[in-house]
Amino acid sequence: MSRILVIGSNGQIGSELTAALASEHGSANVVAADVTPPALPQCTQFVSLDVLDNARLREIVVKHSITDIYLLAAVLSARGESAPLSTWTLNVNSLLNVLELAREKRVSRVFWPSSIAAFGPHSSLEIAPQWAIMDPTTIYGASKVAGERLCEYYFAKFGVDVRSIRYPGVVGYKAPPGGGTTDYAIAIFQAAKRGEPYHCFLDAHTTLPMIYMPDAVRATLELMKADPGRLRIRSSYNILGTSFSPAELTRSIRKRIPRFQVTYVPDFRQQIAQSWPRSVDDSQARADWGWEPRFDLEALVEDMIANVPLDWERSPPARAAS
Ligand SMILES: NC(=O)c1ccc[n+]([C@@H]2O[C@H](COP(=O)([O-])OP(=O)(O)OC[C@H]3O[C@@H](n4cnc5c(N)ncnc54)[C@H](O)[C@@H]3O)[C@@H](O)[C@H]2O)c1
Repeated sequence: MSRILVIGSNGQIGSELTAALASEHGSANVVAADVTPPALPQCTQFVSLDVLDNARLREIVVKHSITDIYLLAAVLSARGESAPLSTWTLNVNSLLNVLELAREKRVSRVFWPSSIAAFGPHSSLEIAPQWAIMDPTTIYGASKVAGERLCEYYFAKFGVDVRSIRYPGVVGYKAPPGGGTTDYAIAIFQAAKRGEPYHCFLDAHTTLPMIYMPDAVRATLELMKADPGRLRIRSSYNILGTSFSPAELTRSIRKRIPRFQVTYVPDFRQQIAQSWPRSVDDSQARADWGWEPRFDLEALVEDMIANVPLDWERSPPARAAS
Protein backbone atom coordinates (compact mmCIF):
# COMPACT_ATOMS: atom_id res chain seq x y z
CA MET A 1 0.00 0.00 0.00
CA SER A 2 1.32 3.44 -0.95
CA ARG A 3 1.46 6.29 1.58
CA ILE A 4 1.84 9.46 -0.43
CA LEU A 5 3.24 12.91 0.33
CA VAL A 6 2.48 15.67 -2.21
CA ILE A 7 4.80 18.65 -1.73
CA GLY A 8 3.49 21.85 -3.33
CA SER A 9 -0.06 20.54 -2.99
CA ASN A 10 -1.74 23.96 -3.24
CA GLY A 11 -0.28 24.76 -6.64
CA GLN A 12 -1.91 24.64 -10.06
CA ILE A 13 -0.97 21.00 -10.61
CA GLY A 14 -0.64 19.96 -6.95
CA SER A 15 -4.23 20.77 -6.06
CA GLU A 16 -5.55 18.56 -8.87
CA LEU A 17 -2.97 15.80 -8.53
CA THR A 18 -3.59 15.53 -4.78
CA ALA A 19 -7.31 15.00 -5.38
CA ALA A 20 -6.60 12.39 -8.07
CA LEU A 21 -4.16 10.53 -5.83
CA ALA A 22 -6.68 10.61 -2.98
CA SER A 23 -9.38 9.08 -5.15
CA GLU A 24 -6.97 6.41 -6.40
CA HIS A 25 -5.24 5.51 -3.12
CA GLY A 26 -7.79 6.69 -0.54
CA SER A 27 -7.77 10.06 1.23
CA ALA A 28 -6.28 8.53 4.36
CA ASN A 29 -3.18 7.52 2.38
CA VAL A 30 -2.39 10.96 0.98
CA VAL A 31 -0.78 13.81 2.90
CA ALA A 32 -0.79 17.25 1.26
CA ALA A 33 2.07 19.62 2.10
CA ASP A 34 2.78 23.22 1.18
CA VAL A 35 4.31 26.39 2.65
CA THR A 36 0.93 28.08 2.51
CA PRO A 37 -2.25 26.58 3.96
CA PRO A 38 -4.95 25.59 1.44
CA ALA A 39 -7.56 28.26 0.66
CA LEU A 40 -10.41 25.75 0.84
CA PRO A 41 -10.93 22.58 2.87
CA GLN A 42 -9.32 19.60 1.13
CA CYS A 43 -10.09 15.91 1.01
CA THR A 44 -6.72 14.93 2.54
CA GLN A 45 -4.75 15.77 5.62
CA PHE A 46 -2.67 18.95 5.20
CA VAL A 47 0.72 19.59 6.79
CA SER A 48 2.65 22.81 6.69
CA LEU A 49 6.12 22.27 5.16
CA ASP A 50 8.94 24.32 3.70
CA VAL A 51 10.60 21.60 1.65
CA LEU A 52 13.98 23.26 2.21
CA ASP A 53 13.60 22.46 5.92
CA ASN A 54 15.13 19.03 5.71
CA ALA A 55 14.53 18.12 9.36
CA ARG A 56 10.81 18.90 9.08
CA LEU A 57 10.56 16.98 5.80
CA ARG A 58 12.13 13.92 7.42
CA GLU A 59 9.88 14.21 10.46
CA ILE A 60 6.77 14.22 8.23
CA VAL A 61 8.01 11.25 6.18
CA VAL A 62 8.60 9.18 9.32
CA LYS A 63 5.47 10.29 11.17
CA HIS A 64 3.17 9.46 8.24
CA SER A 65 5.08 6.34 7.06
CA ILE A 66 5.42 7.89 3.60
CA THR A 67 6.40 5.56 0.75
CA ASP A 68 5.98 7.86 -2.29
CA ILE A 69 6.79 11.55 -2.68
CA TYR A 70 5.41 13.78 -5.43
CA LEU A 71 7.59 16.90 -5.39
CA LEU A 72 5.79 19.79 -7.09
CA ALA A 73 7.16 22.78 -5.16
CA ALA A 74 9.06 25.08 -7.52
CA VAL A 75 9.39 28.63 -8.75
CA LEU A 76 8.23 28.70 -12.38
CA SER A 77 9.84 30.15 -15.52
CA ALA A 78 8.62 33.76 -15.67
CA ARG A 79 8.59 34.37 -11.93
CA GLY A 80 12.03 32.77 -11.56
CA GLU A 81 13.69 35.44 -13.69
CA SER A 82 13.15 38.05 -10.97
CA ALA A 83 14.80 35.88 -8.28
CA PRO A 84 17.38 33.56 -9.89
CA LEU A 85 19.22 32.53 -6.72
CA SER A 86 16.16 31.58 -4.68
CA THR A 87 14.66 29.87 -7.75
CA TRP A 88 17.74 27.69 -8.12
CA THR A 89 17.88 27.01 -4.39
CA LEU A 90 14.26 25.88 -4.13
CA ASN A 91 14.10 23.96 -7.40
CA VAL A 92 17.37 22.06 -6.97
CA ASN A 93 17.76 21.69 -3.21
CA SER A 94 14.19 20.48 -2.73
CA LEU A 95 14.91 17.67 -5.17
CA LEU A 96 18.20 16.82 -3.47
CA ASN A 97 16.42 16.65 -0.09
CA VAL A 98 13.85 14.22 -1.50
CA LEU A 99 16.33 12.11 -3.49
CA GLU A 100 18.50 11.71 -0.39
CA LEU A 101 15.48 10.33 1.49
CA ALA A 102 15.03 7.80 -1.30
CA ARG A 103 18.75 6.95 -1.35
CA GLU A 104 18.52 6.20 2.37
CA LYS A 105 15.49 3.98 1.58
CA ARG A 106 13.19 6.07 3.78
CA VAL A 107 10.85 6.35 0.77
CA SER A 108 10.47 3.95 -2.17
CA ARG A 109 9.45 6.15 -5.07
CA VAL A 110 9.70 9.76 -6.18
CA PHE A 111 7.86 11.77 -8.82
CA TRP A 112 9.42 15.07 -9.86
CA PRO A 113 8.39 17.07 -12.93
CA SER A 114 10.75 18.64 -15.40
CA SER A 115 9.48 20.99 -18.10
CA ILE A 116 9.73 21.95 -21.75
CA ALA A 117 11.72 24.86 -20.28
CA ALA A 118 14.66 22.45 -20.05
CA PHE A 119 15.06 22.85 -23.82
CA GLY A 120 16.82 25.82 -25.39
CA PRO A 121 17.63 27.50 -28.68
CA HIS A 122 19.75 24.57 -29.95
CA SER A 123 17.29 21.81 -29.01
CA SER A 124 15.74 21.22 -32.50
CA LEU A 125 12.76 23.38 -31.70
CA GLU A 126 10.31 22.20 -34.37
CA ILE A 127 9.80 18.82 -32.66
CA ALA A 128 12.21 18.50 -29.72
CA PRO A 129 13.52 14.94 -29.47
CA GLN A 130 13.69 12.98 -26.22
CA TRP A 131 17.48 13.37 -26.31
CA ALA A 132 18.24 16.90 -27.38
CA ILE A 133 20.86 19.55 -26.76
CA MET A 134 19.63 21.14 -23.53
CA ASP A 135 20.71 24.79 -23.38
CA PRO A 136 17.91 26.63 -21.54
CA THR A 137 18.06 30.40 -21.29
CA THR A 138 16.22 30.78 -17.95
CA ILE A 139 17.29 29.93 -14.40
CA TYR A 140 14.14 27.80 -14.19
CA GLY A 141 15.20 25.82 -17.26
CA ALA A 142 18.72 25.44 -15.87
CA SER A 143 17.28 24.11 -12.60
CA LYS A 144 15.19 21.58 -14.56
CA VAL A 145 18.21 20.33 -16.54
CA ALA A 146 20.13 19.98 -13.26
CA GLY A 147 17.15 18.13 -11.77
CA GLU A 148 17.00 15.74 -14.70
CA ARG A 149 20.69 14.95 -14.32
CA LEU A 150 20.20 14.40 -10.57
CA CYS A 151 17.29 12.02 -11.18
CA GLU A 152 19.29 9.98 -13.66
CA TYR A 153 22.32 9.97 -11.36
CA TYR A 154 20.39 8.82 -8.27
CA PHE A 155 18.75 6.07 -10.34
CA ALA A 156 22.00 4.86 -11.92
CA LYS A 157 24.19 5.18 -8.84
CA PHE A 158 21.81 4.28 -6.00
CA GLY A 159 18.87 2.55 -7.70
CA VAL A 160 16.44 5.26 -6.60
CA ASP A 161 13.06 4.73 -8.31
CA VAL A 162 12.55 8.30 -9.48
CA ARG A 163 10.22 9.04 -12.38
CA SER A 164 9.71 12.26 -14.27
CA ILE A 165 7.80 13.97 -17.05
CA ARG A 166 8.75 17.12 -18.94
CA TYR A 167 5.34 18.75 -18.64
CA PRO A 168 4.34 21.02 -21.50
CA GLY A 169 2.42 24.19 -20.54
CA VAL A 170 -0.45 22.94 -18.40
CA VAL A 171 -3.95 24.39 -18.88
CA GLY A 172 -6.56 23.87 -16.18
CA TYR A 173 -9.41 25.70 -14.47
CA LYS A 174 -9.44 24.55 -10.87
CA ALA A 175 -6.45 26.53 -9.57
CA PRO A 176 -4.62 29.61 -10.83
CA PRO A 177 -1.29 29.21 -12.62
CA GLY A 178 1.89 29.94 -10.67
CA GLY A 179 3.89 32.36 -12.84
CA GLY A 180 4.89 30.45 -15.97
CA THR A 181 5.30 31.53 -19.60
CA THR A 182 2.17 29.66 -20.73
CA ASP A 183 -0.17 31.24 -18.14
CA TYR A 184 -1.77 33.28 -20.95
CA ALA A 185 -3.57 30.13 -22.08
CA ILE A 186 -5.64 30.19 -18.88
CA ALA A 187 -6.17 33.95 -18.43
CA ILE A 188 -7.41 34.24 -22.02
CA PHE A 189 -10.44 32.06 -21.18
CA GLN A 190 -11.37 34.18 -18.18
CA ALA A 191 -11.30 37.37 -20.29
CA ALA A 192 -13.36 35.68 -23.01
CA LYS A 193 -15.99 34.56 -20.50
CA ARG A 194 -16.14 38.02 -18.89
CA GLY A 195 -16.75 39.54 -22.34
CA GLU A 196 -13.53 41.56 -22.11
CA PRO A 197 -10.66 41.89 -24.60
CA TYR A 198 -7.46 40.05 -23.70
CA HIS A 199 -3.97 41.54 -23.97
CA CYS A 200 -1.72 38.57 -24.67
CA PHE A 201 1.88 38.75 -23.44
CA LEU A 202 3.05 36.39 -26.20
CA ASP A 203 3.11 37.07 -29.92
CA ALA A 204 0.16 35.67 -31.92
CA HIS A 205 2.19 32.98 -33.67
CA THR A 206 4.25 31.60 -30.79
CA THR A 207 3.43 27.90 -30.92
CA LEU A 208 4.20 25.90 -27.78
CA PRO A 209 3.60 22.34 -26.57
CA MET A 210 0.64 22.30 -24.19
CA ILE A 211 -1.43 19.80 -22.25
CA TYR A 212 -4.85 19.86 -20.62
CA MET A 213 -4.80 19.21 -16.86
CA PRO A 214 -6.74 15.91 -16.92
CA ASP A 215 -4.16 14.54 -19.38
CA ALA A 216 -1.24 15.87 -17.27
CA VAL A 217 -2.64 14.29 -14.11
CA ARG A 218 -3.42 10.99 -15.85
CA ALA A 219 0.07 10.89 -17.37
CA THR A 220 1.56 11.30 -13.90
CA LEU A 221 -0.57 8.52 -12.43
CA GLU A 222 0.16 6.21 -15.36
CA LEU A 223 3.92 6.79 -15.22
CA MET A 224 3.94 6.06 -11.49
CA LYS A 225 1.99 2.81 -12.05
CA ALA A 226 4.22 1.66 -14.91
CA ASP A 227 6.39 -1.43 -14.65
CA PRO A 228 9.83 -0.07 -13.61
CA GLY A 229 11.52 -2.58 -15.90
CA ARG A 230 9.96 -0.88 -18.93
CA LEU A 231 11.12 2.62 -18.07
CA ARG A 232 14.14 3.44 -20.21
CA ILE A 233 14.20 7.13 -19.30
CA ARG A 234 15.17 8.13 -15.77
CA SER A 235 15.94 11.76 -16.56
CA SER A 236 12.50 12.91 -17.74
CA TYR A 237 10.02 11.81 -20.42
CA ASN A 238 8.78 14.12 -23.19
CA ILE A 239 5.00 14.09 -23.38
CA LEU A 240 2.70 16.14 -25.61
CA GLY A 241 -0.97 16.97 -25.27
CA THR A 242 -1.39 19.35 -28.18
CA SER A 243 0.52 22.31 -29.66
CA PHE A 244 -1.01 25.70 -30.38
CA SER A 245 -0.25 29.40 -30.71
CA PRO A 246 -2.22 32.25 -29.11
CA ALA A 247 -3.76 32.97 -32.54
CA GLU A 248 -4.94 29.37 -32.92
CA LEU A 249 -6.31 29.35 -29.38
CA THR A 250 -8.12 32.64 -30.05
CA ARG A 251 -9.65 31.25 -33.28
CA SER A 252 -10.94 28.24 -31.39
CA ILE A 253 -12.42 30.38 -28.57
CA ARG A 254 -14.07 32.65 -31.16
CA LYS A 255 -15.97 29.68 -32.59
CA ARG A 256 -17.82 29.70 -29.25
CA ILE A 257 -17.56 33.42 -28.30
CA PRO A 258 -17.48 35.22 -31.70
CA ARG A 259 -17.01 38.78 -30.42
CA PHE A 260 -13.90 37.95 -28.36
CA GLN A 261 -10.98 40.31 -29.13
CA VAL A 262 -7.27 39.72 -28.45
CA THR A 263 -4.40 42.16 -28.79
CA TYR A 264 -0.79 41.05 -28.70
CA VAL A 265 1.62 42.93 -26.45
CA PRO A 266 4.66 40.66 -26.10
CA ASP A 267 6.78 41.22 -22.97
CA PHE A 268 9.90 39.47 -21.57
CA ARG A 269 8.05 36.14 -21.66
CA GLN A 270 8.10 36.23 -25.47
CA GLN A 271 11.86 35.72 -25.46
CA ILE A 272 11.52 32.77 -23.09
CA ALA A 273 8.77 31.20 -25.22
CA GLN A 274 10.88 31.61 -28.38
CA SER A 275 13.63 29.51 -26.80
CA TRP A 276 11.21 26.62 -26.22
CA PRO A 277 10.13 23.96 -28.71
CA ARG A 278 6.96 24.21 -30.78
CA SER A 279 6.29 20.53 -30.22
CA VAL A 280 8.00 17.54 -28.65
CA ASP A 281 8.52 13.94 -29.73
CA ASP A 282 6.85 11.78 -27.09
CA SER A 283 7.32 8.41 -28.82
CA GLN A 284 9.49 7.10 -25.96
CA ALA A 285 6.70 7.70 -23.41
CA ARG A 286 4.19 6.08 -25.77
CA ALA A 287 6.43 3.03 -26.20
CA ASP A 288 7.53 2.61 -22.57
CA TRP A 289 4.33 3.24 -20.63
CA GLY A 290 1.59 3.71 -23.20
CA TRP A 291 1.24 7.50 -23.07
CA GLU A 292 -1.65 8.76 -25.18
CA PRO A 293 -3.26 12.22 -24.87
CA ARG A 294 -7.05 12.52 -24.92
CA PHE A 295 -7.57 16.28 -25.26
CA ASP A 296 -6.83 18.11 -28.51
CA LEU A 297 -7.20 21.89 -28.84
CA GLU A 298 -10.95 21.81 -29.53
CA ALA A 299 -11.72 19.49 -26.60
CA LEU A 300 -9.56 21.63 -24.28
CA VAL A 301 -11.31 24.85 -25.35
CA GLU A 302 -14.77 23.33 -24.99
CA ASP A 303 -14.05 22.16 -21.45
CA MET A 304 -12.25 25.34 -20.33
CA ILE A 305 -15.07 27.61 -21.51
CA ALA A 306 -17.60 25.46 -19.69
CA ASN A 307 -15.67 25.42 -16.41
CA VAL A 308 -13.13 28.21 -15.88
CA PRO A 309 -14.24 30.76 -13.24
CA LEU A 310 -14.57 34.40 -14.32
CA ASP A 311 -11.66 35.22 -12.04
CA TRP A 312 -9.91 33.55 -9.15
CA GLU A 313 -11.04 36.04 -6.48
CA ARG A 314 -14.76 35.90 -7.14
CA SER A 315 -14.78 32.16 -7.62
CA PRO A 316 -11.97 30.86 -5.40
CA PRO A 317 -10.32 27.66 -6.54
CA ALA A 318 -8.32 25.29 -4.37
CA ARG A 319 -5.91 28.04 -3.24
CA ALA A 320 -5.65 31.80 -3.06
CA ALA A 321 -4.57 33.57 -6.24
CA SER A 322 -0.89 34.42 -6.30
N1 LIG B 1 2.11 24.56 -14.58
C1 LIG B 1 2.81 24.30 -15.68
O1 LIG B 1 2.43 24.68 -16.80
C2 LIG B 1 4.08 23.48 -15.58
C3 LIG B 1 4.76 23.13 -16.76
C4 LIG B 1 5.94 22.41 -16.66
C5 LIG B 1 6.40 21.98 -15.44
N2 LIG B 1 5.71 22.31 -14.30
C6 LIG B 1 6.25 21.86 -13.02
O2 LIG B 1 5.24 21.25 -12.25
C7 LIG B 1 5.46 21.52 -10.86
C8 LIG B 1 4.22 22.15 -10.26
O3 LIG B 1 3.93 23.32 -10.98
P1 LIG B 1 2.66 24.24 -10.65
O4 LIG B 1 2.28 24.90 -11.92
O5 LIG B 1 1.66 23.49 -9.88
O6 LIG B 1 3.37 25.33 -9.73
P2 LIG B 1 2.66 26.37 -8.74
O7 LIG B 1 3.54 27.56 -8.67
O8 LIG B 1 1.24 26.57 -9.12
O9 LIG B 1 2.69 25.61 -7.35
C9 LIG B 1 3.87 25.40 -6.61
C10 LIG B 1 3.46 25.17 -5.16
O10 LIG B 1 4.65 24.96 -4.41
C11 LIG B 1 4.51 25.63 -3.18
N3 LIG B 1 5.83 25.92 -2.63
C12 LIG B 1 6.66 26.95 -2.97
N4 LIG B 1 7.76 26.93 -2.20
C13 LIG B 1 7.64 25.87 -1.36
C14 LIG B 1 8.46 25.35 -0.33
N5 LIG B 1 9.62 25.93 0.00
N6 LIG B 1 8.02 24.26 0.36
C15 LIG B 1 6.83 23.69 0.05
N7 LIG B 1 6.00 24.15 -0.92
C16 LIG B 1 6.41 25.24 -1.61
C17 LIG B 1 3.73 26.89 -3.51
O11 LIG B 1 3.10 27.43 -2.36
C18 LIG B 1 2.73 26.35 -4.55
O12 LIG B 1 1.52 25.94 -3.93
C19 LIG B 1 6.71 22.40 -10.80
O13 LIG B 1 7.85 21.61 -10.59
C20 LIG B 1 6.77 23.01 -12.17
O14 LIG B 1 8.08 23.35 -12.53
C21 LIG B 1 4.57 23.05 -14.35
